[in-house]
Amino acid sequence: MRRALQLAARGPATGPNPRVGCVLLAPDGHLLAEGHHRGAGTAHAEAAALAELAARGASAAGGTAVVTLEPCTHTGRTGPCAQALLAAGLARVVIADTDPNPAAAGGADLLRRAGVDVEVGLLAEAAHALNERWAAAVARGRPWVTWKFAATLDGRSAAADGTSRWITSAPARADVHRLRAGHDAVLVGTGTALADDPALTVRAPDGTGEGGQTGPQPLRVVAGLRELPAGARLRDGRAELVHVRTRDPQQVLAVLAAREVRTVLLEGGPALAAAFARAGLVDEVVAYLAPALLGAGPAAVADVGVSSIADALRLDLAPGPDAVVRVGEDVRVTARPRARPAGERAPDPSHPPVVEEVARVHRDR
Ligand SMILES: NC(=O)c1ccc[n+]([C@@H]2O[C@H](COP(=O)([O-])OP(=O)(O)OC[C@H]3O[C@@H](n4cnc5c(N)ncnc54)[C@H](OP(=O)(O)O)[C@@H]3O)[C@@H](O)[C@H]2O)c1
Repeated sequence: MRRALQLAARGPATGPNPRVGCVLLAPDGHLLAEGHHRGAGTAHAEAAALAELAARGASAAGGTAVVTLEPCTHTGRTGPCAQALLAAGLARVVIADTDPNPAAAGGADLLRRAGVDVEVGLLAEAAHALNERWAAAVARGRPWVTWKFAATLDGRSAAADGTSRWITSAPARADVHRLRAGHDAVLVGTGTALADDPALTVRAPDGTGEGGQTGPQPLRVVAGLRELPAGARLRDGRAELVHVRTRDPQQVLAVLAAREVRTVLLEGGPALAAAFARAGLVDEVVAYLAPALLGAGPAAVADVGVSSIADALRLDLAPGPDAVVRVGEDVRVTARPRARPAGERAPDPSHPPVVEEVARVHRDR
């Protein structure tokens, strides 16, 4: 399963599908084939491993499939994997994590009913952590929202005269491009779109090129009723633009969910960020804090409906060593809202094995 997790981690962190790895073993335990999912429209991990085996004219009959996610039962862009494993004659299937997608789940039961020996839960937490944002998005029917902002140590996101470029240092801004590349969509309100005329693309540190972005650029999304000028950078065609003409955060996310967007980077500004925070629609906060003071000027977030200290929206630092990191002259803090919807699996910072397992998988990639 550790090997399957390594393979899974080679898949893309963005896109509509989870990262999945599969290892096929012969009845005597020796390695037959491996596979991983390379993104939407390509073979699922199980199908990739079976195809590798078939290409060599070999058979997995009587063997074991080790997969990081429950084999799917639905015919999407590719055929159902549970059926493919059955057809290949596997006697045993070891699964790390169950599938939260109601349309695809049930693979373990299907295999069991067909007489296959199925084990679920081996290294489940490491497997879940690998696809945490995807699993949350699929289970809730709305994308995972990361809210990113830059502020001075006194929490200001612009000076009193409205100027805000640049609060943070070049390395922090380069880090933001890396963060963008890790999301399916980048979202701002019309206020930011009109005030800053941002491009919202992934670019190199000098502001040019594609910043090493090999896949498609993230979808650019603007929320709000006002129109964007014809000459806005967001209309430059370098990436797709969606203007959601609403002030309802739920509706914004519904539009994105319908496009199979699983992760959104909310880049502000203060009004839109406050609306998302008030609606409980922020899953992670990434704050770039510059060692500077402004004393006046707009705060990083507008009114979130808190009037008393007891009602503060408390966050917990994200698990793992990257929760607080120095980036150039600035500090990046990653935190998550403390209260979570009932039934949702919360990361457990007191559970170092999970963090270590994922860190190890990433190291070994
Ligand atoms: N430091 C940072 O990290 C950072 C990041 C982003 C922006 N900024 C700065 O923030 C300033 C802009 O602030 P802002 O608050 O006006 O920007 P904003 O939050 O991007 O836009 C606010 C506008 O979005 C629309 N909107 C859509 N849904 C909304 C909702 N649920 N609640 C409220 N408004 C909603 C409204 O415009 P309609 O009338 O069109 O509906 C509203 O006026 C700029 O100066 C920019 O430089 C700083």
